Amino acid sequence: MSAPTHPSGGPDIGCQAILAFETSCDDTSVAVVSLEGRVLAMASANQDADHAPFGGIVPEIASRNHTQHILPLVDRALKEGGLSRAQIAAIAVTSRPGLIGSLMVGVVTAKALALAWNKPIIAVNHLHGHIHAFGVTDESYQAPAAFNNSYLALVVSGGHSAFYQVREFGHYQLLGQTLDDAAGEAFDKFAKMLGLGYPGGAEVDRWAKLGDPTRYRFPRALSRQDNLNLSFSGLKASAQRELARLAPEERQKDLPHLCASFQEAVVESLMLKLEAARTQRELAHVVITGGVSANSRLRQLAQEWGARHGVQVVIPPLRYCTDNAAMIGWVGAQKFLAHNFADQGLTPSARSLAEDFAEAPLAASGTAQQESRAKPT
Ligand code: KG4
Ligand code: ZN
Repeated sequence: MSAPTHPSGGPDIGCQAILAFETSCDDTSVAVVSLEGRVLAMASANQDADHAPFGGIVPEIASRNHTQHILPLVDRALKEGGLSRAQIAAIAVTSRPGLIGSLMVGVVTAKALALAWNKPIIAVNHLHGHIHAFGVTDESYQAPAAFNNSYLALVVSGGHSAFYQVREFGHYQLLGQTLDDAAGEAFDKFAKMLGLGYPGGAEVDRWAKLGDPTRYRFPRALSRQDNLNLSFSGLKASAQRELARLAPEERQKDLPHLCASFQEAVVESLMLKLEAARTQRELAHVVITGGVSANSRLRQLAQEWGARHGVQVVIPPLRYCTDNAAMIGWVGAQKFLAHNFADQGLTPSARSLAEDFAEAPLAASGTAQQESRAKPT
């Protein structure tokens, strides 16, 4: 492949890694990723403790924290990776979707450093990052064979629950998604009703291990429809009604059973749709990613289902499932090789653009594309 051309002029000699920023929600993350997908360094700052008193993410707090954290994290990541600025080929940044104030911090920082260091900018859709996250490599994780980049991806996090068909890099088809709450959001709201703290998914998972998942019967929405859409708001309402019916001491006594039953409803809803996907299309590889993929019951049922049906189920290590800059750097590396750059006109968008999940590949090899002029849908 010919050397990628720097937008401002000649080829970059001796550049080998992408500096990547992820600030779409409440995690500030900076990573350095080689063009082959090796994570050379990652430095992140988690804000859970700042949002916990409010029982959810406060956007203003999130963006203020990003502002404080991002530059020290850049220094840390470069130091950890033993890299000089000269070795940075480009700066990749999450430009959409997400909280607009949070995205803005990453995008503005990327543009400022790109200008100061004379580096190209690469805009990355956060969901493309999740979809490709399993493909990175580090000292203790080896990416599985890339299945020719053809697989079904289930992204389940606090903000997203969706199925995507990936046919090749840059070619993503949205197959179905939640019509209301995301799976992680449902876990968090349920945990809040029980006074388990924020974010509550991991706590529900922990209590569920001690409980009987059949003790309470919560609904599995849309389970009879053969589309891949999901819905968790009815489940949330049903849980709210059930909890209102129980005396406080009963709630406390049944906490493990309530958590196990709620978790079973969420996980079974996801599994029913995975099974629907399998019957609708040839399915050899499934990637499950996003914070909810940490859920022990989802991991267990998905692996068992895969073994039963001869489907390879890949769930990356948690550090690459939750929001992280390594996944942004990895997509950035592939866009760099495809000469797919943004420019100083790049603006963040709270939503994905229609073209992000279009049928056509994002970039024909060797064709520079300017993303900053695209209009939000
Ligand atoms: O991907 P992530 O770190 O952030 C975004 O939302 O983008 O995902 C966080 C979500 C939270 O809703 C959290 O409660 C959920 O993932 N989560 C879990 C578990 N660990 C984290 N949900 C269920 N079971 C878990 N073990
Ligand atoms: Zn995410």
